[in-house]
Amino acid sequence: MNDKRNKAKEQIEWLRQEIERHNRDYYVKNSPTISDFEFDMMMNDLAALEKAYPEFASADSPTNRVGSDLSTAEGFKSYPHKYPMLSLGNTYSIAELEGFCNRIATSSSENVSYCCELKFDGTAICLSYINGKLKRALTRGDGTNGDDVTANVKTISSIPTSITDDGFDFEIRGEIYMPFDSFERLNKEKIDSSEVPFANPRNAAAGSLKTLDPKEVRKRGLQCVLYHIIGENLPFSSHSEAIRWAASKGFPVSEFSRVCKSTAEVVSYIEEWDVKRKSLPFATDGVVIKTDDLALQKKLGYTAKSPRWATAYKFKPEEALTKLLSIDYQIGRTGAITPVANLEPVRLSGTVVKRASLHNSDQMEALDIRIGDYVYVEKGGEIIPKITRVETSKREAGAVHPHFPEKCPSCGSMLVKDEDEARHYCNNELCPMRIKGRFLHFVSRKAMNINAGEATIEQLYDNGLIKSLPDLYSLTADQLISLDGWKEKSVNNFLESISESKKVPFFRVLYALGLRHIGETTAKMLASHFGSMESLSRATKEELLAIDEIGETIAASLSAYFMENGHIEMIHRLKAAGLQMETEKREKLSNLLEGQSIVISGNFSVSREEIKALITAHSGKNTGSVSSKTSFLLAGEKPGPEKIRKAETLGIKIISEEEFYSLINNN
Ligand code: IVH
Repeated sequence: MNDKRNKAKEQIEWLRQEIERHNRDYYVKNSPTISDFEFDMMMNDLAALEKAYPEFASADSPTNRVGSDLSTAEGFKSYPHKYPMLSLGNTYSIAELEGFCNRIATSSSENVSYCCELKFDGTAICLSYINGKLKRALTRGDGTNGDDVTANVKTISSIPTSITDDGFDFEIRGEIYMPFDSFERLNKEKIDSSEVPFANPRNAAAGSLKTLDPKEVRKRGLQCVLYHIIGENLPFSSHSEAIRWAASKGFPVSEFSRVCKSTAEVVSYIEEWDVKRKSLPFATDGVVIKTDDLALQKKLGYTAKSPRWATAYKFKPEEALTKLLSIDYQIGRTGAITPVANLEPVRLSGTVVKRASLHNSDQMEALDIRIGDYVYVEKGGEIIPKITRVETSKREAGAVHPHFPEKCPSCGSMLVKDEDEARHYCNNELCPMRIKGRFLHFVSRKAMNINAGEATIEQLYDNGLIKSLPDLYSLTADQLISLDGWKEKSVNNFLESISESKKVPFFRVLYALGLRHIGETTAKMLASHFGSMESLSRATKEELLAIDEIGETIAASLSAYFMENGHIEMIHRLKAAGLQMETEKREKLSNLLEGQSIVISGNFSVSREEIKALITAHSGKNTGSVSSKTSFLLAGEKPGPEKIRKAETLGIKIISEEEFYSLINNN
């Protein structure tokens, strides 16, 4: 193979991997790290390379498949789609869009009409109605199967659960989205309770739809717009007619759609909305252009990934020009330093931007930024906007170079930058900012849920009342009342919430300690596996690595943490204060699984933790991976193919959830 082909092959493989990773961040984690524009450009590069080197094309490539939102966690059952749920082709170029219209026009002998619609930036939904009743709501999933989110969709009041039956069953598809005002409110709540906010309204909508508690979903202010009706023998001849029918039945449809009779009309719709979208109360990322005539749609058909009768024209990401006032250097509880720009407030995509991330020192150098510069800000994949470039033509004389600190602005210790890391770190465990960060994490809602915000923590720390986490539990009313702004009532409330926190279960205590890489899910898993802080702290690296969900990073973080005497001593003090250091013991139910070593895989009708607890309660042992010692593999929905294969090879019995219940006689 010559050099160029080799390079192309490598590049294709790299792009596929990167795109898959970003697909997971976007669709499954709801937490993208790049902008849609950057993602689309990677897709374009991949498609171009696959075209130039067809020998490396593959049906498996992301250019031929839709991204998947199927949950890997428990909680949602997936069902097959009656009709595949595809994606849309897209372009950022008017010339390419005109090409699309021309191709459609040449395949019809008549004058073609296009229905132009806004491209709502939310998450796709498919509602099926049988005999006029809403039967099921599925997410797009991987296009073939979707997750059942009916209970959550029913909390959106604009979606009718039943309509007067016109004698045909149908599916109606559309978008669930979160308007800017609900998004801002939700993120404010998240920030107030020290949770990670959503990056954008789209992720907030998708994440909310995959929330397990419909009561919580109801509070989120989700909206829906429907834009596609499918079924057998539908009595419509055009798309716009079908949508008018949907509106007459009470379905929420867009008021901004327009039937255009020529390419020029399509282009002027796009130009009009590229301006008007900036004042809409929700996010749009483009315009969708659909062939209006349904017979022509049928004739044009589909590729493996998208319809040939529709495409999306996507708007370039919005940017705003504003002045850089100053730069703060923030220190997180892990010690990482982030330069954050303070900006003259400016409106961007529906919200007011005052701060933007500068990421790290390399980025600041690359931008060649000065204090007082006019800079362009853009919303990328992350919550906090980024500065994309400097408008040097507006640079005033005397604009000063920012000085990236050599020492920690909080504790003065020298900052360290590892060669392969872009960020600088303060490695001083006793750095006041890092300590405050640890306290804030400790009191946050998902951790100990103590009623204290940044200002309270700051005040208590600055007054020398709290230095280490257990100090919170020896605070007295006398100490608090002597501080500025505290009244008897606030003192009592605060002490009450500290006392209440002693009841939070062990896994949350573990999460609250804020070990690197130990998020809520990992903490839950560790708590259920080890049962107590004592046995977790004694686990060897090998024992940790033997657990399915634990890799090198987490094992290393745990080992390092428990090596430090200071941490052990702190845990002893927290235990003495009355915090839960053990998983609540389940009553022993039977000896039915005594001596049995059981591996579980896949999703169950109850949580995995519950299944594990049942195994223990019946005296069995849950182990991570299938070996010759395994008694049986308990397989739920979508079990790991690797485990199934291994069990089959070793001749180990595979039983279903149902069979498991009859085994333990517990329905
Ligand atoms: S029509 C067969 N119309 O954009 C494809 N999609 O990037 C039918 N979207 O998967 C889709 N607004 O989730 C259509 N007015 C609109 C839309 C729209 C947003 C979403 C949809 C689609 C994605 C493609």
